[in-house]
Amino acid sequence: MNLIIMGPPGAGKGTQAEMLVKEFKIPHISTGDMFREAIKEGTELGMKAKTFMDGGQLVPDSVTIGIVRERLAAEDCVRGFLLDGFPRTVPQADALEQIIAGLERSLDAAINIEVADEILMARMVGRRICRQCGAPYNIEFNPPQEAGKCDQCGGELYQRSDDTEATVANRLAVYIQQTEPLLTYYQEQGLLIRINGNQEVTKVFGDICSSLR
Ligand code: AP5
Ligand code: MG
Ligand code: ZN
Repeated sequence: MNLIIMGPPGAGKGTQAEMLVKEFKIPHISTGDMFREAIKEGTELGMKAKTFMDGGQLVPDSVTIGIVRERLAAEDCVRGFLLDGFPRTVPQADALEQIIAGLERSLDAAINIEVADEILMARMVGRRICRQCGAPYNIEFNPPQEAGKCDQCGGELYQRSDDTEATVANRLAVYIQQTEPLLTYYQEQGLLIRINGNQEVTKVFGDICSSLR
């Protein structure tokens, strides 16, 4: 399966991606996670990405496309992949088409998770992530058993620096302007699968799986 998962910030892409990659045994490729990893490691890429991310802006295409091209060429992608948070602009989508054609493959589906704006804000402001294993939680909708601690590995939970109200508002605006046009792009290719993301996590997952069959 060669899949893309799309949707506005906070729609639940990461949450669903975690479950989908287990189901289909393919790697989860999240450009946001790759940038956060680079920031943590203090690399040049991380330093470049941080200013854009903290402002809720997109990292430039020239940077982002390069890291995805490299990642998709890796050995573990031969059986497929799930891209989360990429592409986010029309030039990124065009580049992806070329990269995939170069690998003599094609996309199977672009899954779009749809959630209303007012719900997205609450999801992001309440989000907490495990520092150790990256598992996502939400203090309101999906709290850990013990406050501040990951259920799966006991790791410490933290809040993303771009999950403040002001930055979230920017991210939503950037999404509408730069990423939403991709829905038409994939619809025209007959690849778009629209999913109601305003349901229980397991129900959203069930809907995605049945629409892929
Ligand atoms: P990225 O990390 O991709 O962030 P995003 O797109 O803003 O999406 P999020 O990760 O915030 O949300 P999500 O949809 O994964 O939701 P989640 O599952 O966590 O990108 C961050 C930044 O990196 C960008 O702003 C940009 O600067 C840069 N970047 C990344 N990719 C780029 C690219 N291609 N080009 C340029 N720049 C790029 O869920 C959210 C919360 O809701 C959690 O608390 C979760 O527990 C809860 N939740 C999930 N599902 C449900 C449900 N069904 N019901 C109730 N709660 C739920
Ligand atoms: Mg995410
Ligand atoms: Zn953990």
